Amino acid sequence: MAQSMSFLITLLFISSTTAMAAFNIVNLGAKPDGQTDSARPFLRAWAAACRANKPVTIYVPQGRFFLSPVEFLGPCKNKGIKFLIHGTIIAPAGYSSSMNWWIRFKNVDGLSIYQGTLDGRGQSLWACKMAGRSCPFGATSLSFSQSKNVLISGLTSINSKFYHLSIFGSSNVKIQGVKITAPDASPNTDGIHLQMSSGITIKGSTIGTGDDCIAMKAGMTDVWIEKVRCGPGHGISIGSLGDAANEAGVQNITVRSVVFTGTQNGVRIKTWGKPNKGSVNGVTFANAIMQNVQNPIIIDQNYCPSNRNCPGQSSGVKISRVSYTNIRGSSATPVAVKFDCSPSNPCSGIGLKDIKLRYQNKRAQAFCKNVRGTATGFIDPPSCF
Ligand SMILES: *[C@@H]1O[C@H](CO)[C@@H](O)[C@H](O)[C@H]1NC(C)=O
Repeated sequence: MAQSMSFLITLLFISSTTAMAAFNIVNLGAKPDGQTDSARPFLRAWAAACRANKPVTIYVPQGRFFLSPVEFLGPCKNKGIKFLIHGTIIAPAGYSSSMNWWIRFKNVDGLSIYQGTLDGRGQSLWACKMAGRSCPFGATSLSFSQSKNVLISGLTSINSKFYHLSIFGSSNVKIQGVKITAPDASPNTDGIHLQMSSGITIKGSTIGTGDDCIAMKAGMTDVWIEKVRCGPGHGISIGSLGDAANEAGVQNITVRSVVFTGTQNGVRIKTWGKPNKGSVNGVTFANAIMQNVQNPIIIDQNYCPSNRNCPGQSSGVKISRVSYTNIRGSSATPVAVKFDCSPSNPCSGIGLKDIKLRYQNKRAQAFCKNVRGTATGFIDPPSCF
């Protein structure tokens, strides 16, 4: 009663006196003690923000706020909801929940999230997976679905149970200055996982995790990735594609000025060795630095774990117009450039320009299969087109 009263007073005060309303979740009952579930205060703040007719800031002050899985649902009348987070939001530690998200925004238009730390507390689930026991997939820490006009700035995400950040069915999403960290050996902890979305920008961010730093799946178009540091992790990947029938294509992807350190891959395109149709068309990889990367440049169209259900290992995904410009540094294996394309859908329009990748300070190798392309400028290892 007292709580709802103060909530009402806050609301009245704000709506009558300032242009930009603010809700401090502590005033709505959240406790920065790392234990008390703050789901209700968060959802009350969201409900009020969502129906407000002017911009609203939901403020999370310093402290540790425990949060059980919450879903922030639109559509909202308000197209200017901002979260300003100075504290740390912590997930349930266990993995009993079968939820595949922890914090989810759905059908939201016009949202920004500034700063803050999300601690997914994935340790016990990773231990279960690494022990080969039967465990749930786990929850993605921060998930957006069917949303648009979203900005995520200065957020830190650590130790997600599954992906750190996932964007599905969304458009115009800007991610800048984020920091993502999980151990090298943590399973399935993709940094940023993108699918069926367009107009995604990722800039000035640092990602070190146990799986892909950034993964782009089916239906990704108009993506701009710039000034990202990746490692440890599996690199920046397009794919895996072609696991399912009738997947949407991937188009117009730019990856610039990325530094890869100790990663499994640098820039990778990966498809299943299955006949399912699909496409990757129009990709630019430019100005990458590779530091001790196992597969700096790789197209692998033969992905087929355990060699099951991949008849003829021939991918139905057509890869075309992919350029690699100014990619330098060191490979951790002898083959620094690998194009292993589909016999039924050879890669075409592959361009190499100004490549210098060395293995143990000696000449590395390039591998070509079912690929057509052109090489210009300085090329080391020598092109195998
Ligand atoms: C490609 O994507 C960029 C954003 O990354 C966009 O500015 C550009 O207009 C797109 N190009 C085409 C041809 O759609």
